[in-house]
Amino acid sequence: MRLFFALDLPEALKAELAEFQGIGRAHGLPATWQQAGNLHLTLAFLGEQPESQLPALRDIGGRIAGRCPWFPLSTAGLGGFPRPSQARVLFLGLEANARLTALADELQRDLADRGFVLDRKPFAAHLTLARFRAPVDIHLFEPGPAPREFEASELILYRSHLGAKGSQYERIGVFPFA
Ligand code: 2AM
Repeated sequence: MRLFFALDLPEALKAELAEFQGIGRAHGLPATWQQAGNLHLTLAFLGEQPESQLPALRDIGGRIAGRCPWFPLSTAGLGGFPRPSQARVLFLGLEANARLTALADELQRDLADRGFVLDRKPFAAHLTLARFRAPVDIHLFEPGPAPREFEASELILYRSHLGAKGSQYERIGVFPFA
């Protein structure tokens, strides 16, 4: 099963981002827009894992979340991977946040210690809004959504189901913060 750890977003923020995506969609570019209900902030991508690893992953999730107090996060501006002027991915950035970086680092370190092989790319907090089939200048989508603050209150282990209409994410572990 394809797994990752992430933070979910409040429904009100998802609704605002869905509204923004509606404006973006109206440009009519060949793209897959992330379903608003699926918007999330990935902390560690695990890729394909055997079901037998679930107890270890639940153990790690519970331990890390149990010693992490709730903390505030703020959305920032739009960004593009690999480059804003020729983006294949449109994302909403997050304001730099030491607690978020520490949480992602700690989680990734724990996973690596338990033998999980993770992406070597450094952690870059982002909310993927759309994927384009050809490079796009993201300035086309300015102004982005207004900045919002929200609370990180739980760590979630998601299972990703790949499908023709994009991926569906199922919560298979929810670990409340302290
Ligand atoms: P993305 O939104 O930038 O694609 C589920 O695929 C989640 O894990 C997404 O948030 C995705 O980020 C993230 N992710 C991180 N590394 C990944 C990888 N190597 N392959 C697929 N998804 C990855």
